[in-house]
Amino acid sequence: MDIKKAKEVLGKSLDFIMSESFTPAQKKQIEKDTVANFNNHINPGWLKYRKSVSSNAASIEWTDYDSYFVDLDGEKFIDFLGGFGIFTFGHRNPEILKYVKKQLDHQALHSQELLDPLRGYLAQAMAAITPGDLEFCFFTNGGAEAVEMALKLARIASKKTWILSTINGFHGKSMGAISVSGKDLYRSPYFPLIGQVSHAIYGDIEDMKSSVWKLKKAGEKIAAIILEPIQGEAGIIVPPKGYLKGIRNLCDENDILLIFDEIQCGMGRTGSYFRCQAENVTPDIMTYGKAFGGGIMPITGIIARKHLWIKELQDNPWMLGSPTFGGNPLSCSAALGAINFMINHNVPKLAREKGEFLMKGLKKLQKKYPKLLIDVRGVGLMVGVEFPKTEIGYFVAKNLFARKVMMAGTLNNASVIRLEPAATTSYEDFSKVLTYMDEVLGCAKKEFNL
Ligand SMILES: Cc1ncc(COP(=O)(O)O)c(C=O)c1O
Repeated sequence: MDIKKAKEVLGKSLDFIMSESFTPAQKKQIEKDTVANFNNHINPGWLKYRKSVSSNAASIEWTDYDSYFVDLDGEKFIDFLGGFGIFTFGHRNPEILKYVKKQLDHQALHSQELLDPLRGYLAQAMAAITPGDLEFCFFTNGGAEAVEMALKLARIASKKTWILSTINGFHGKSMGAISVSGKDLYRSPYFPLIGQVSHAIYGDIEDMKSSVWKLKKAGEKIAAIILEPIQGEAGIIVPPKGYLKGIRNLCDENDILLIFDEIQCGMGRTGSYFRCQAENVTPDIMTYGKAFGGGIMPITGIIARKHLWIKELQDNPWMLGSPTFGGNPLSCSAALGAINFMINHNVPKLAREKGEFLMKGLKKLQKKYPKLLIDVRGVGLMVGVEFPKTEIGYFVAKNLFARKVMMAGTLNNASVIRLEPAATTSYEDFSKVLTYMDEVLGCAKKEFNL
């Protein structure tokens, strides 16, 4: 224990938070402290892994607005990573932020005992914008936690156990969520995971049918099928048209609950409020998150059909879960503001139109550099570009970063780079990014002799 040290750290960091601007010496101090703190108190791996795309090891973010991140030196980066789906409505969107600030002025967190009205209004708004008869919400703090609630609800309501999911699907990294995710790398170090989970090939209805048939033939009871309407982490995999409907029919025929994980593809990003609406399919349970908090507050949740809230869950509303901060007033104010913005600005339409513009530009580049850009795919503003090897993707991400464009490409995983810009990004910035891509692909062509 070293209270003197703690006081020194607190004094410094709280002063920095309160500062309007920094002197060059202060900037140097923050940079030095941050690198040392990541190395000594977080995980030295981050500096090598995530931040490696920047030419400067200590590229430190300090503020954000519109579609930009700004570092300590005031350098502005066009954000085409979008926090993997968080910033659909931009960064600290003033039309959302104003509600969060006002809410903070009178209440941040709830008593845990009285009834908090914003939670109720948010649930009502969600019931109104989600498909079919999805009506009852449970709010959580992170995506994996929402998935946990979806899985638990499916099991308790159906009184069955098996969960079918998809190869390469991603649902988060808590024990239940990683169990239903489908990538070996993140699962196998934690074996044994939760039992009675099986994976089918994503996008292949016959494989899912066969999985259901085999389990049923062996007398097993299937509670639910969980999948992403578009796989995000897997590298933006859009299933064939009719797949979601086929899965819905399969569930209906076999009395299986259907869970759609809309955490990344929902909230307007893919051209409809939720992706399943574009395919006219209603799940029994749906998860949402990321952009749900308006890019300002962390809030996620599930919405489900009323009949799943069985007597046991009504007798004891804490039976499913009791997250202390889930659905707190401050987060709810952000989500209410986000939904309001999404509707008033027709964000799905913006995502469709700007997505088309981006896709057109990328397809042109693919024609020009066919050996470098082996695939360009996606829906709305959930887009993936595929390179023949990870080094090329990394080269592209690194060189775009040097041109002040942020995209996700790590040293270990850059064969598919995801582009998830805000729907509020200007056409001028879209054009700029496409021009820079052209430049960088030109350099990559020389560098890799392709
Ligand atoms: C579809 C999907 N589900 C769940 C999650 C997990 O969310 P979180 O990282 O907030 O736990 C993610 C995160 O990328 C996701 O894309």
